[in-house]
Amino acid sequence: MTQATLHQLNILEAIARHGSFTRAAEELNLTQPTVSQQVKQLTKAMGLPLFDQIGKRLYLTEAGQSVLDASRDIADRVAQLEMHLSDLQGMEKGRLRLSTTTTAKYFVPRLLGPFHKKHPGITLSLEITNQAEVMKRLANNEDDLYFTGRPPRDLDVELRPILPNPLVVVANRSHPLAQEKSISLKRLAAEPMIMRESGSGTRAIVEQFFSDNRMDITTIMDLTSNEAIKHAIVGGLGISVLSQHTLALENNESPLVILDVEGFPIQQYWYLVYPSGKQLSIAAQSFIDFLLDEGKQTIEQALANALQ
Ligand code: PGA
Repeated sequence: MTQATLHQLNILEAIARHGSFTRAAEELNLTQPTVSQQVKQLTKAMGLPLFDQIGKRLYLTEAGQSVLDASRDIADRVAQLEMHLSDLQGMEKGRLRLSTTTTAKYFVPRLLGPFHKKHPGITLSLEITNQAEVMKRLANNEDDLYFTGRPPRDLDVELRPILPNPLVVVANRSHPLAQEKSISLKRLAAEPMIMRESGSGTRAIVEQFFSDNRMDITTIMDLTSNEAIKHAIVGGLGISVLSQHTLALENNESPLVILDVEGFPIQQYWYLVYPSGKQLSIAAQSFIDFLLDEGKQTIEQALANALQ
C-alpha cells in the first residue's frame, strides 16, 4: 500500500467523480494511457480491483470506495499542511471549496468578492446544486463548507445559523389574488402550483407545510430552477412558494408579487454546515470568521431591497 502515491489517489478521485477515465484525464491534463497506467499501479498496490465497468460507465468497487474515502481524508490533510506551511511563511494561500443549494446561490456568491479582497491568496470554488445533492457531497466530505436551508437529520454536523429564510407565495402581478388580503390556505391550495423538483429543499419545506396544515396542493408542473419558476409564473402557468431571497433583484416594477396568505411567510433559516470533527483548513476557518462578522452584513444589505 505504501507504493501508492498522492498523484494516483488524486487520479482515482477524479475518475470516481466523473465516472470516466477520459473525463478525469481531461480535467487533470493527462493522457488517457497515463491515467490507465496510474490506476493499474494503484490497483496493484491495493491488491484488489478498484473499479467495475458496466457498459460505458465505471463504478467503484467496495475496495475502490474505501480507497476513495481515505484519499479524500488525505487530500484534506495535505491541503491543511500546505496552508499551515504557507502561514508559517507569512503568506495566506490555499483553496476553499464551498457547496450551496440552488436557493442559497442568491446570497452566497455576494460574499465571494469581499472575502477575496481580504484573502486574495485563497482560491475559491463554489458548487451549486439542489439540497439532496449538497447533502450527498456533505456525506462524502467533498467540500470544505456547505450552505443549506435544511440541516441534515442523519449526519453528525456542526451548524451555524446565518440568517432567516422566509418562504413566500409568488404570483403574477395580474393574478386575481394579487390585490386580496389574508387569502385562506384553502383558496391558495386550489391554485395551480409550480413546484421545485424532488430533492429540492424548498419543495420539502412546502410539502411539509401543506401536509402539517392537512391540505392537498394542485401541482401543475415541477421545475428544477427557481429562475425558470419565476418566468413560468410571469407566463401565467401558476403560482409558487419560493424563498424570498429568490426575489433579491426584483423591485416594485417586477411582474411578480408576493401574495398575502395566512400562515405565510414560512419562517426558515439558512445554515452553514460542515461534518462534526472535520479538521477545518485555515481558508475554511477564515471564511467562517468573515461570514459571521462582516459577511452577514453584506448579505443583509444585498437582500434589503428584495421585493416585499
Ligand atoms: P433548494 O434548497 O435550492 O434545493 O430548494 C433550498 C434549501 O436549502 O432549503
